[in-house]
Amino acid sequence: MSRYSEALLLCALLAGSAAAAEDRFQGIGRTATPDEVRALDIDVRADFLGLPVGSASVAEGKQIFAAKCAACHGAAGESDAMFTPLIGGTSAQDVKAGRVQALSAGPTRVRSLFMKTATLSSVFDYIQRAMPWTEPKSLQPDEVYGVLAYLLHLAQIVPADFVLTQANMADVQALLPNRHGMTNDHGLWPGAPASQGGMGNGGTPDVQVEACMRDCADEVRLCPPVPPPMRQAQGNPAEQNRAFGAVRGTPLGAN
Ligand code: HEC
Repeated sequence: MSRYSEALLLCALLAGSAAAAEDRFQGIGRTATPDEVRALDIDVRADFLGLPVGSASVAEGKQIFAAKCAACHGAAGESDAMFTPLIGGTSAQDVKAGRVQALSAGPTRVRSLFMKTATLSSVFDYIQRAMPWTEPKSLQPDEVYGVLAYLLHLAQIVPADFVLTQANMADVQALLPNRHGMTNDHGLWPGAPASQGGMGNGGTPDVQVEACMRDCADEVRLCPPVPPPMRQAQGNPAEQNRAFGAVRGTPLGAN
């Protein structure tokens, strides 16, 4: 179950049940159809759960990119006119090492997409969800695979005749230039601590947590009822609403 469906389920649990919610809000809204839920349930998880079936070649992707992405990102993903470049700053050596040399070499002017990212699932998810900027969620799965294949080729990660599919995404992720560049064992604020005139904590990890997965509750309820003394603390809200009559500028009966 994807995170979105989990959230929906949680909502249903919070309301008691979907049926109970309908009873309580008679005449308001309706239950979402399976198609409507499917249209929103598009997240691709880090373990690739949720990845749609599809495929496209670098060459197909190049055409789609030219039509739908190049205006903002440049024909080769190099433009910084709209946003930081998608391509640039990585080398074939980085693909081998899994660390982007330019990031350790000192401050960089920009960080391109492939200098930063360690997970291909998130790039797929982002493009599918948010791009093109002016028409988000308009791409078919094959089109997302295509533009991604083209970008991966521009970043020297896959060859020109490569075909990206749901079956080889994990293999390609294992080639990302910054795949070993993401760590958790550093503080959010590096640099000297306040006692020494800085703003940091010396780079010590802020949070170290081991997830406890023992003795878990069967059902999670995140919504305790409002404690009785507080329920009517402000009087009965229903009695505090008043009808305010016609709205200025809107002829009566117009809507
Ligand atoms: C109308 C301009 C526009 C078009 C067209 C467009 N993008 Fe973008 N793109 C942006 C902007 C602006 C951002 C930054 C958005 C933000 O951070 O909220 C962005 C961000 C991105 C990112 C994230 C980059 C990063 O380093 O985090 C990717 C990947 C991306 N676009 C891919 C695409 C692809 C693929 C297409 C074509 C299907 C496309 N974009 C079409 C404007 C555009």
